[in-house]
Amino acid sequence: MVANQSSKRTIKIGLLGFGVVGQGVWKHLTADRSALEQRLGVKLELARAAVSDLSKKRDVRVAKSKLTDDPQTIVDDPSIDIVCELIGGTKLARKLTLDALKAGKIVVSANKALICDYGEEIFACARKHGTHYFFEASVAGGIPIIKTLREGLVANRFPLIYGILNGTSNYILTRMEREGLSFEDIVGDARALGYVEADESLDLDGWDAAHKAVILAYLAHGRWVKLKDMLVEGIRDITQHDITYARELGYKIKLLAVITRDFDSNRLSVRLHPALIPAREMMASVDEVFNGISLTGDVVGTTLLVGRGAGQDATASAVISDIADAVHALLGAPAPIICEEDAEVYADLGAGVELASPSDIHASYYLRLRVKDQPGVLAKITEVLSEQGVSIASMIQHEELSSRSATLLFTTHESNEHVMGETLKRLKKLKTVIDAPFLLRIFES
Ligand code: HSE
Repeated sequence: MVANQSSKRTIKIGLLGFGVVGQGVWKHLTADRSALEQRLGVKLELARAAVSDLSKKRDVRVAKSKLTDDPQTIVDDPSIDIVCELIGGTKLARKLTLDALKAGKIVVSANKALICDYGEEIFACARKHGTHYFFEASVAGGIPIIKTLREGLVANRFPLIYGILNGTSNYILTRMEREGLSFEDIVGDARALGYVEADESLDLDGWDAAHKAVILAYLAHGRWVKLKDMLVEGIRDITQHDITYARELGYKIKLLAVITRDFDSNRLSVRLHPALIPAREMMASVDEVFNGISLTGDVVGTTLLVGRGAGQDATASAVISDIADAVHALLGAPAPIICEEDAEVYADLGAGVELASPSDIHASYYLRLRVKDQPGVLAKITEVLSEQGVSIASMIQHEELSSRSATLLFTTHESNEHVMGETLKRLKKLKTVIDAPFLLRIFES
């Protein structure tokens, strides 16, 4: 039965944080409100938004009376039903989130760092207080990956999930690939376009995508993985040598999250690093600021989701989908099929799972060395590789006559992290090796 206009319940929404995403949510909830109200059978009221600076000029027009610089007043307002935490960071965000959940409000969040570090505590708090914490916008922006894992692919176990989870690094790698420019050349443009997070390390050293990988690993495997137990590498050291040689060999370089679970040994591996992937793979065509996630389920086979992983509108789309779920829950609908507050469901998913050490990774490798261009140098290097049991699959040398140096680029047959780590240590000690050797993994799904 559709409620008539006057009998519809009014759901009040408060926003904590009014930056790019917060303003996007406000803008779309204002512009599309009647359509959403029609679909959800309620009236929606944007009650208030907490900002850091009341005097700041904003693109989205909001009555002054709707803004506050004290986010706690939103959390403490008993008339507000749904709180959207969009301030980022972990300290204040954690306090406000827990306070809102304790007050019985539903919290919607885009905060991957918070979930990665405090997800267990937050889910337990939501459960204890009979409410919900929704976080579709925390991973891959507008791609509905959380709902896909939790609902659409509920029939599956996932031996492999991998993908591109950071739009900024994908933008930089794409432009390096297309324009032949260096990382330093492109990162300046990415900054100017506002793509790089204020804490640049999140995008450039892989931490943002690692946070997202931790969340996906929990949803798929019921196990929280600590960042300190993961291999996490970013894109800063990638050069045109790497991109060009990868292309010659039929690969593209992408920053990949890789989550594997071997259901026989019950070992889970979660890692984040740049990798050479075959150019023929659809994932290799996920360029610019787009994200892509490939899920291999034991029932469905492989499914690839591609879309905008960041940006105002895509992220607002995900936040609003969580607001819609929150409205349903407030109207008494049962919780989602699998709900993160259901600790038992996740304990069951993760039963007996052991975390693989990064040193257990097996792969073929790409190796770059800058060496003195002298007789016997190549022989010495191949001797080290041979003694370490590393089999060379291909090799190319680029001479730099002006500096009497050469760049050697190798790919190897399958080896492992331990062997390659030892190999790098030995190569580094050679007097003829000029810069630190650089290693990338080759990922064939
Ligand atoms: N810095 C992130 C990215 C924003 O580039 O993907 C979305 O999490």
